[in-house]
Amino acid sequence: MPGDTTGGSHALLAGPADVARVLAVDDGPANLALLQQLLTRDGYLVSTAADGIEALERIAVNPPDIVLTDVVMPRCDGIRLCREIKSSPLTRLIPVVLITSLRGREERLLGIEAGADDFLLKPFDPHELRARVRSLVRLKRHTDDLDCAEAVILSLARTVEARDAYTEGHCQRLSIMASALGRRIGLGDADVEALERGGILHDVGKIAVPDRILLKAGPLTRDEFEAMKEHTLIGDRLCSELRLLRSVRPIVRHHHERLDGSGYPDGLSGGAIPLLAQIMGVVDIFDALTTARPYKQPHGVPRAFEELIAEARRGWRDAALVDALIALHAEGALSIGD
Ligand SMILES: [Fe+2]
Repeated sequence: MPGDTTGGSHALLAGPADVARVLAVDDGPANLALLQQLLTRDGYLVSTAADGIEALERIAVNPPDIVLTDVVMPRCDGIRLCREIKSSPLTRLIPVVLITSLRGREERLLGIEAGADDFLLKPFDPHELRARVRSLVRLKRHTDDLDCAEAVILSLARTVEARDAYTEGHCQRLSIMASALGRRIGLGDADVEALERGGILHDVGKIAVPDRILLKAGPLTRDEFEAMKEHTLIGDRLCSELRLLRSVRPIVRHHHERLDGSGYPDGLSGGAIPLLAQIMGVVDIFDALTTARPYKQPHGVPRAFEELIAEARRGWRDAALVDALIALHAEGALSIGD
């Protein structure tokens, strides 16, 4: 049975971090040997599997940087393997190349549907194989970096939340409520996803707000409030480091604006306030009202809605958004109880 072909049973696990790892999957030992020979010569760490099941076992233990797989195999074929890889958040960024036969139009269509990143025709041209692997590994390195940078910013946001016991779970709730509200008013997938991320990240800038202000059990002085307001600008600056977070930045910067221009940091008014930031503002207030804080007991949901309606009348919130939130709650689609 094919196994590691890197000179030792744990060679892959022990390999240097910057050497790209390739997993080749084929039920034909001759094909596997050829792939292994070509790619090992180019400096890759090559691991092999005889079918999709074995491949998934290897991926679970040690995710490769790229998977090259035959299509027709016993037990679990290449299409199913590809679908499994692409459906898990842990592995979906691993590029998958399907090696198809000349008459494989149908295989190709199935492969596209399963999320395959590229195709190679059998018998493959070694030069083409090398070029494809090289470019996909480069792409994978890039997405790894992005993933890593996003993970750093997300963990900053969680650090902020962890500093204040009273806001535990606040970001997760905002993420759920804001995306539900976005969906309720008919926003598309990209906006809903921005709201999901925005819920987690909206207060990331509080990382720079001192504990004595962030955790103060009482009203803030004017100076303290000025320092607190900075969290919107600092958060926006942190998120500007990543193109991936472009759609989240307006939420982070503007979630404390009010429709009449009395909010911060920019005093925007009316339609100048990005809609996603208005949505976050509404659910942020709702969550603050319905949870306990050092200086107050939580309000019940009806009282919180009364307060939001009052804010809409005062010209701070969009009444239609408040109505949509109330409707969402009536439908049982908000994650909290009364
Ligand atoms: Fe905030």
